Amino acid sequence: MEKKILILDFGGQYNQLIARRVRECRVYCEVHPYTMTAEEIRSFAPAGIIFTGGPNSVYAPGSPQADPVVYELGVPILGICYGCQLIARHMGGTVSAAQSSTAREYGKTETDLDTSCRLFRDLPERSVTWMSHGDFISVMPRGFRSVGRSDACPTAAICDEGRRLYGVQFHPEVNHTEYGRDMLRRFLYDICGLTGTWTMGNYRDRAVKEIREKVGNGSVLLALSGGVDSSVCAALLAEAVGPQLTCVFVDHGLMRKNEGDEVEAAFSKWNIRLIRVNAKDRFLARLAGVTEPEEKRRRIGEEFIRVFEEVGREIGSADYLAQGTIYPDVIESGAGDASVIKSHHNVGGLPDFVDFKEIIEPLRLLFKDEVRALGRELGLPEYLVSRQPFPGPGLAIRTLGEVTEEKLRILREADAVYRETVDQAKLPGVSQYFAVLTESRSVGVMGDGRTYGYVLALRAVTTDDFMTADWTRLPYEVLDRASTRIVNQVPGISRVVYDVTAKPPATVEWE
Ligand code: XMP
Repeated sequence: MEKKILILDFGGQYNQLIARRVRECRVYCEVHPYTMTAEEIRSFAPAGIIFTGGPNSVYAPGSPQADPVVYELGVPILGICYGCQLIARHMGGTVSAAQSSTAREYGKTETDLDTSCRLFRDLPERSVTWMSHGDFISVMPRGFRSVGRSDACPTAAICDEGRRLYGVQFHPEVNHTEYGRDMLRRFLYDICGLTGTWTMGNYRDRAVKEIREKVGNGSVLLALSGGVDSSVCAALLAEAVGPQLTCVFVDHGLMRKNEGDEVEAAFSKWNIRLIRVNAKDRFLARLAGVTEPEEKRRRIGEEFIRVFEEVGREIGSADYLAQGTIYPDVIESGAGDASVIKSHHNVGGLPDFVDFKEIIEPLRLLFKDEVRALGRELGLPEYLVSRQPFPGPGLAIRTLGEVTEEKLRILREADAVYRETVDQAKLPGVSQYFAVLTESRSVGVMGDGRTYGYVLALRAVTTDDFMTADWTRLPYEVLDRASTRIVNQVPGISRVVYDVTAKPPATVEWE
């Protein structure tokens, strides 16, 4: 059994980040709400515990508290921000509200660290940390010492090394804390005694075994969209229970160049039943004459459901319905809530049309980068594993105005040339890049002749979460190469423009 870290969630904004940092150290961890019961905590059997930050004050009525059993297990605890104050208070110290605005700290803060504390061993004695707190520890609990101070806070870090209890007022998980990753590594390796054995190779073996035990001889159904999550989920299930797996892949004809065939080819090495529904004509028929973006989305969504309905009727029933839910969805919707099911545009409605006993979600404990790593472990090709996000309604919302086969053909070619050009430049920090076929036409000249073709817009964005995004400053040479290649190679396009709008005020997609 893998040794694991329990992260108790007190509602802080960086909680997912803490889990990611721990996993980056190849240590398995799970985030659970602070309401976890003593019994649940005992059966989790953590090798160490991390308390997250949180928006509350520890003295506020009803403020979140951990079950005291956490202190009785004798395992190391690291409290971050609110979590640090919780430890101090539980151990008999005093937490006070900063009286003046100067004592509150938000942002980058020069902090002195006592490197005799194991948490900070071999780190510089002064470095920048990221603070975000109004309360501070004014009276130290017995047995603790202060091992960190900033101008405004004499107790920026505390510890009782004998009992292996540590607290930091700042956020080591945030990039702005210069040595934050080192501190977490010290906690996991030096203090909890872990060694970093969590790898996707191990995960794969264990997951395959667990899926086999759970599914037995039962049948499994999965809606395969061709996105990273559903593809890796399909590959894992194929590896575990291949002959019992049916994947339904609806090709709506709105995918990028070669995409449908690539998805099919990626799964040809497994003995599974892959139903590819070539539904291009019916989707195009539904989109004929439609120009309004929301109406396009609505019709595509509706058509998907109809297709699934029909396939569902053929299949009849399955014992298990598999979904590619991943950990960020689980944490965001309340950690540990087993009833959460990711509702994805592409598979909307499927559960209604097929009888099944249970839902299985074999990726529900993995972050996106881990899902990609698992995909590579399973031998999925790189074009699937490192695929950019792609909207459910596909190229229909990148073809402005009415969607026609001709416009799709032009966009598909141009988009492929653009993406290939950006790929070849091997630029860091480009999160998503694609082409959009506008409704405008413009005059051009090629050879001695006049042309009159579409204006193509290129988009590239840089973002962590897609909630906000900046337009990527692609080098002029890359834009130049893309533009020249597109106009030369793709008949129907006379002009190329670059989108320089951030989100907000724009969105990533044009429709
Ligand atoms: P927006 O345009 O909302 O896009 O700024 C943010 C991210 O979401 C993707 N996107 C979608 N993904 N179904 C999806 O699965 C959709 O209908 C959809 N619309 C936008 C978009 O590509 C970007 O990554």
